[in-house]
Amino acid sequence: MAEYWYFKDGFEAKAREFLANAPEPDLNLEFTVGKRDFVNAGKASAEIKLSLKRIGVEGAILRTVAISSYEAEINCTAHADGADILCNIYSNLVHVIFHDFGPGMKDIEQSMVPGFSTADDMVREMGFGAGLGLPNIKKNSDVMHIISGEGERTYLEILTYF
Ligand SMILES: Nc1ncnc2c1ncn2[C@@H]1O[C@H](COP(=O)(O)OP(=O)(O)O)[C@@H](O)[C@H]1O
Ligand SMILES: [Mg+2]
Repeated sequence: MAEYWYFKDGFEAKAREFLANAPEPDLNLEFTVGKRDFVNAGKASAEIKLSLKRIGVEGAILRTVAISSYEAEINCTAHADGADILCNIYSNLVHVIFHDFGPGMKDIEQSMVPGFSTADDMVREMGFGAGLGLPNIKKNSDVMHIISGEGERTYLEILTYF
């Protein structure tokens, strides 16, 4: 198992403190996405965006959460055997966790390189496979954390502060 962390400047201390001791969320959403289920993939991220909009989160933040969670959700259906998705909403942040059902990433650092993709023909025919999803998640999050390894379930969590 390997681990990858990204913290936007100034977010590491408070994010680590939050993650070490995450309190009960104000709102909790749960979803599952199936392997190659491109018909339904995208619904979880749309639902997350809507829930944040309802509580008055500003548009610029809504867009970053929608992008990061959409890319992660698509990866769970395109590259993994589906996933459980958990979204915890607090007054000051949203914490989204994608715990997929494997088969994991061989090399997380390589997966993060813009343009790197192992997408097969079916995934490419669906219009995915540019290799920009993970870099896009990084660009659109305050904290990105991945735990993965070959033959393992991938755990990806994203924090976005409002
Ligand atoms: N949940 C996942 N499980 C296994 N491998 C993944 C997962 N997410 C991403 N990857 C790997 O990282 C690569 C890059 O992902 P990404 O940047 O989203 O590009 P793309 O989805 O277009 O291939 C994927 O091609 C795949 O090899
Ligand atoms: Mg992708």
